[in-house]
This record gives sequence, structure tokens and C-alpha cells, in this order.
Amino acid sequence: MTLRAGKLPTARGSVPRIVGKKREKLVFVVFLGENGAQGDRNRDSIKEKEMNDVAKKKGRLDLINMKKNGEQMTWVTAYDFPMASFAEAAGMDMILVGDSLGMITLGYQGTIPVTMEDCISHCKAVRRGAPNTFVMGDMPFGSYQVSDADAVANAVRFLKEADMDAIKLEGGVRVKSRIRAIADAGILVCGHIGLTPQSSGPLGGFKAQGLDTESARYVIEDALAVEESGAFALLVEAVPPELTRFLAKKLTIPVYSIGAGGPCDGQLLICGDMIGMFQAFTPKFVKVYANVAEVITNAFKEYVEDVHTGKFPGDEHCYHVRKGMEEEYAAMLKEYE
Ligand code: KIV
Repeated sequence: MTLRAGKLPTARGSVPRIVGKKREKLVFVVFLGENGAQGDRNRDSIKEKEMNDVAKKKGRLDLINMKKNGEQMTWVTAYDFPMASFAEAAGMDMILVGDSLGMITLGYQGTIPVTMEDCISHCKAVRRGAPNTFVMGDMPFGSYQVSDADAVANAVRFLKEADMDAIKLEGGVRVKSRIRAIADAGILVCGHIGLTPQSSGPLGGFKAQGLDTESARYVIEDALAVEESGAFALLVEAVPPELTRFLAKKLTIPVYSIGAGGPCDGQLLICGDMIGMFQAFTPKFVKVYANVAEVITNAFKEYVEDVHTGKFPGDEHCYHVRKGMEEEYAAMLKEYE
């Protein structure tokens, strides 16, 4: 397909679909091939996407009201455009662009190597894929450890450069002044306590927290510190449901769980875990809803087989010489033999 500026053949249409309990219309314009046929799905691009009647993007007050009304908030991580658009289409309340992108997308062993540039770039892609969803950027290791001023400057980048709605950082008591400084700058901050992957070294590995009274006291002190410092929400990871229930009742801000059981204000899962795409390990707390790794590997295997055996590409995958020009075309090719 050749595309010339100002002469792009297009087709316009719309597909109705159900998002959550709402019906919306996805309006699209698709670039067409030279002969007006829709080109290869994988290469031709959807140029324009307008949502009519889209479920309204949630804000801080909606999240507080959901807590008051006992309505569970749904939250998943995403790191790129397609995953973000699937999450939005599924009616997800919130998306986290976690620094887990280091393991799930970039192939690192952990989250420590992830940089601000990695996070900003992935947050931008997610925002493009989910323009109508509350999206939170995760502050990577090193972006808030040095000073309050550094933490504010990096948090600002998430909003200015990547259009994030909020940021998340790990820790409680020890990051009180960071949370306060970022919140005072007018940025929504979500705390993250319990098992905090950036400090898995000091914690002795990826281990559940708050399993005994002494450890549970630390988690409670961290939770209180996060709320007192001005965070708008708290994420609790890998603690027993008894502790999660206590924190959700005690705090006025919403308390969300990843691997911390059901009795709180909502749930987060890592997309790569829940759809069976990340294969290195799957934490005990994950429910696996699909086996995307198997689906993709099988598709790739079939493609390799098809190319080797000549089954692909078939005639239906080819562009054809303009009708009536076949002989002239063959003669032209002959000139070059
Ligand atoms: O980076 C991330 O995805 C996270 C979750 C583990 C909560 O911080």
C-alpha cells in the first residue's frame, strides 16, 4: 500500500460495544489500500478514535464515594497502548503503570533498574490507549529516595509529560515527608505498604508481611503515616485479610489490595500475571484468567510451520495487479529480465 500525503483513502464506521454497564460507540477511520480495500489489519492503522458516551473517567471523589457506598474498585496494571485500551474497554476503574514493567515488559530480574524515562514513555503509551480511565504512574526506585525536592520534581513529570492522574510510591513512615511534599504540590499520591518490591532486599525477598503481631504493627504504623501525610489512597500488598479489613475500616481514604484479600475497597492485579503472559513466576495471590503466552506461542509456531510449508502467504494475502493490466505488466517485467 502506498500512502500519499493529502490523498489517504479512508473508510469511516462505528461499532457499538458494551463497556461496564454503559453502551458506547467507537468511531473509527481506517486507512485503505490503493484499491480501496481495507489493508492488512496488522499494518494499516486506526487513525482516529472518538468515544461517544464513554463511561466518565473516575476522580478522587468518585473513589471516596465508592468506598462510602461499599462499591469495589477494579484496578489492573498496563504498560502499553494495546493493554491499556483492553483495560478501558473492559470497564476497569483504574490503571497502574507499575514499575513492574521492569519484569513484565523489559525483562529485568526486578524493578530496581527501571528509570524515570522508562516510566514516562510507558505512561504516555498507556494514556494514549486509555484516555478515559484514571491512570496512576509508579515512581521508580531512585526517583524519590534522595530528597523531597527530587520527589516533587519527578512526580510533576508524570503529570506534565505523561498526563497521569496520580502517582504511587512505596513506603509509609520512612517516606512521610515525600508524600507530604508531593501532596502539597497538588498531586494525588497513593501510598504502597506491606510487601514493597523496591525494598524486597531489606525485606528478605518477595515475602508476605504482617503475618505476626510485631510485623503487623509496622504495617499499621505505615498505613497511619500514609494517611496523615496527605495521600488520597493506600495500596496494601501481601498481608493477611484480617489486617487489610482493619486498615480499610480504620482509614478514611480508600484502601486497595494486591494479594491482601478481599475485605477492603478494591483490588489490583498485574496484567502479565492474570492473563498468563509473564511466566517466570506467578504469586500465590494471583487468579489466572487466561493463558495468553500459550495462545501467542502457538500462533507463532503455526506461522513458522505455514511459511516453511508454503501455506502462507496465500493468494488472499496478496495485492493484485490492476485488472486488465496483467499482460502489459508481465511484458514490462520481461523488459528487465
Ligand atoms: O509496579 C507494580 O506493578 C506495583 C504492584 C506490585 C503493586 O507496584
